[in-house]
Amino acid sequence: SIDISKLRDLTGHITLDFGYKNTGSTKSAITFLDGEKGILKYRGYPIEELAEKSTFLEVAYLLIYGDLPKSEQLENFQAQITKHTLIHEDMKKFLDGYPSKSHPMAQLASLVCSLSTFYPESLDANSSTETMNREMIKLLAKFPTIVSFIYKKSLGHPLIYPKNKYDYVSNYLNMTFGQRTEEIEIDPVVVKAMNTLLILHADHEQNCSASTVRMVGSSDCNIYASVSAGIAALWGPLHGGANQAVIEMLERIKEDGGDTEKWINKAKDKNDPFRMMGFGHRVYKNFDPRAKIIKKACDDILEKLGINDPVLEIAKKLEEAALSDPYFVERKLYPNVDFYSGIIYRALGFPTDMFTVLFALGRLPGWIAQWKEMHENKEPIGRPRQIYVGHTNRTFVEAENR
Ligand code: ACO
Repeated sequence: SIDISKLRDLTGHITLDFGYKNTGSTKSAITFLDGEKGILKYRGYPIEELAEKSTFLEVAYLLIYGDLPKSEQLENFQAQITKHTLIHEDMKKFLDGYPSKSHPMAQLASLVCSLSTFYPESLDANSSTETMNREMIKLLAKFPTIVSFIYKKSLGHPLIYPKNKYDYVSNYLNMTFGQRTEEIEIDPVVVKAMNTLLILHADHEQNCSASTVRMVGSSDCNIYASVSAGIAALWGPLHGGANQAVIEMLERIKEDGGDTEKWINKAKDKNDPFRMMGFGHRVYKNFDPRAKIIKKACDDILEKLGINDPVLEIAKKLEEAALSDPYFVERKLYPNVDFYSGIIYRALGFPTDMFTVLFALGRLPGWIAQWKEMHENKEPIGRPRQIYVGHTNRTFVEAENR
């Protein structure tokens, strides 16, 4: 590969690649992805193995620091995080100000950006590694608190503060589903399911949101604002917002009588803007390995929780039909990570508009790792070029004469 950023004499020569389909923006040692073979590895470890054997916090450490932690490193990591789980009480004033039915992703992006106002030490791009690390820890620690506060506010319920006795995922579940009046029992099946889902979402190399985090961070912008920009990028239905869009689509198909063939045809119709949500991927031209794990987890969890969700049957029928349909086969459109995840979130008790927020919770360590790597590599500011196609020369005419 040629590193064209090093070639200084290309004046007038610009590679035009809409959507960066074939443009590498960086060198990275975090996540390996082979879209043709359907392989995904974090720092060299296959996603299948991590999803089965690891915890989300361990994977966060792996992504951010490069290796799986030894027991004492993990304990220390957990202890540092536990110290920072509370958010400043004034942050709650922002939360109070949002309309109660506003989308949680809008609240999340704003609240995460607002963290930078409380931690001015994060604003100096030349601060010590120790300071930078502390800001990363704070962000990891406060994120689940913010996410669960957003949820509680949407219900009008009192906020549940973090408790030091819990691990990362259990603490999040307690803040989300717990009550002030009594302790709830945290189901280990749910904890395992959440760990699996969060691990599967933890990083995915230079996707839209990670590239946004790196791009914003490349101007030496602080980590809170950079991640807030990543949250905004994730929100769109072509990226993380697809998990919400999938459930909404499956519900529509159910209400429409469950005629999957009709909806497959709708997705194939080029005069219809409808797309089969949760299908297709920019890089995977084979089964998304995360979707395979999620599909199995979905079956297991629904069975363990004794839930029978009719949309799961519709999802399976759609998948089956698509896998043998020439339109989907020729374009290599397979279910992606978002296709089954929403069904699990729903079974766990999350409302639909929280799904993309859960994706963000999982993706956070990836964004942090990408931001850190970009800084450590001292990458130049991101600044793509363009091909100008506008007017060339126009003469100014006063408003009254136009
Ligand atoms: N339903 C119907 N047709 C589709 C779909 C779909 N879900 N996805 C792609 N296609 C078709 C396109 O119409 C196009 O057909 P054409 O060659 O006849 O014009 C062809 O497949 C290639 O699609 P592109 O849009 O060029 O592929 P691109 O890489 O730009 O887009 C994307 C990838 C955005 C994921 C797309 O597949 C899509 O919109 N999927 C639905 C939304 C979704 O599930 N997003 C989540 C992605 S995973 C994630 O971000 C976490």
